[in-house]
Amino acid sequence: MANFIAVTDTKSWQKLNSSNKDERLPAFDAAMVKTINSWCVDFSRSGLSLEQLQLLSEAAKECDLKKQIAAAFNGATINFTENRAVLHMSLRDQKTDCITTIETQALAFAELKRCKDFSEKIRTSKITDVVNIGIGGSDLGAKLLNESLRPYHTGPNIHYVSNVDPAHLNETLKNLNPKTTLIIVVSKTFTTQETMANALLAKDWSKGEAQFCAVTTALEKAKDFGIDGNECFGFWDWVGGRYSMWSAVGLSVMISVGAPVFQEVLDGAHSMDKHFLNAPIEENLPVLLALWDIWNVNVRGHRNMAILPYEQNLESFARWFQQLAMESNGKRVNRNGQEVSYATCPVYWGEVGTNGQHAFYQLLHQGTSITPCEFIGFAKSNYKNPKEHQLLLANMLAQAKAFAEGAKGVDAYRDFKGQRPSVTLLSDQATPARLGELFALYEHRVMAQGFLWNIPSFDQWGVELGKKLAASILTNWDEPNSFDGATKTLLSMIRKFS
Ligand code: F6P
Repeated sequence: MANFIAVTDTKSWQKLNSSNKDERLPAFDAAMVKTINSWCVDFSRSGLSLEQLQLLSEAAKECDLKKQIAAAFNGATINFTENRAVLHMSLRDQKTDCITTIETQALAFAELKRCKDFSEKIRTSKITDVVNIGIGGSDLGAKLLNESLRPYHTGPNIHYVSNVDPAHLNETLKNLNPKTTLIIVVSKTFTTQETMANALLAKDWSKGEAQFCAVTTALEKAKDFGIDGNECFGFWDWVGGRYSMWSAVGLSVMISVGAPVFQEVLDGAHSMDKHFLNAPIEENLPVLLALWDIWNVNVRGHRNMAILPYEQNLESFARWFQQLAMESNGKRVNRNGQEVSYATCPVYWGEVGTNGQHAFYQLLHQGTSITPCEFIGFAKSNYKNPKEHQLLLANMLAQAKAFAEGAKGVDAYRDFKGQRPSVTLLSDQATPARLGELFALYEHRVMAQGFLWNIPSFDQWGVELGKKLAASILTNWDEPNSFDGATKTLLSMIRKFS
């Protein structure tokens, strides 16, 4: 592992800190509105001045950020704690103009072709319902993508089951006919407790009548489960679970919208890949968003950020981004194995547009702490209701304005202090290509954050302890005395209540 430094250890960082006394939002500066390709991103209310953004960009250069991005695209083992490359970008580089590891693309395209053929077969078969069983990266990305493409749904109904709570599977299956149902078991490892438990339950329900297929990197394990090789779709250890919706993990989406629409999504993501790889730091959207994160977390000390899409079909966006960012960068040991002395990933959370306004925006406007907000909107609706869409966008613009400017109230209760930072991302329409760009933009933002914080973004050791303990509690369910006081007491109460 080459020796990289964190953004906080750069010379530009010292200058940035001394430029940082005034916490009010700078006056509007048109240069802070970045219009790049099909996106307009307004940083003018971000709390950053042009000079501060320039210092952050200089700091990113001192971290050799561009070199690190190029190394990722060249197939370097940047997931070094698992000895893996990070090449989900290969899954969408059909023109071979980003990735130098041709072998990964050959594998990716052969499997994509198999998925496309299979999805067309299912779309023209008697199948009316598809149930995707998977969790985390084997659920969130595909679910988000499928929901975001609702106007393009032309195939069977797609359902997503992730939780091991039997309520999830039972409620999903209760009105389905096994004879017209396809179950897709999606698990990179094919060992995840929740997914395996749900897959077995689905097998019982099917009584041999439902069709099954699998998506995994562990093809042998899927075979052992009873899914034939022709019905197994693969991906590879260079595709992280939370970056996998572009692979066979997106099979449910392909079945739902058809292969050509899915391809448009891949092409959109690819154009963002090219932008991330080639654009200079000052004009590089994923990098600029990552710099805003660094500013919020490490300069202003904010520990949470709200993601607020004004687009109903992005209702799962914040949940998807939570896994992407927090599983990638929720870490406190740097790439040299040392504890970091600065904060890393904030808590991201959010909700779609106006629903959030009637739930938690009160706190965002008048609460005691400041939550930087990120608005996402599209100029044109996918539906034939331009007036209502205008109303939606008017709300988005109003909120960003209200957060920034505030308003004097007739009394303290009605007073809005303003000075609450936000960034607004705007594009033309939530088409398949634009959605591909948007999701790839957020993926690359997370990659850039990790490089700047000098942490290993592509493993997830933090989820292992809980998994191990759940297995041990299950094994020792009838021997509560073997546990600590709290677990023992709760286990005894569960036994008493059940
Ligand atoms: O939550 C931990 C995790 O390993 C995620 O990284 C992953 O997306 C999820 O579990 C599911 O894993 P698998 O696809 O192997 O079932």
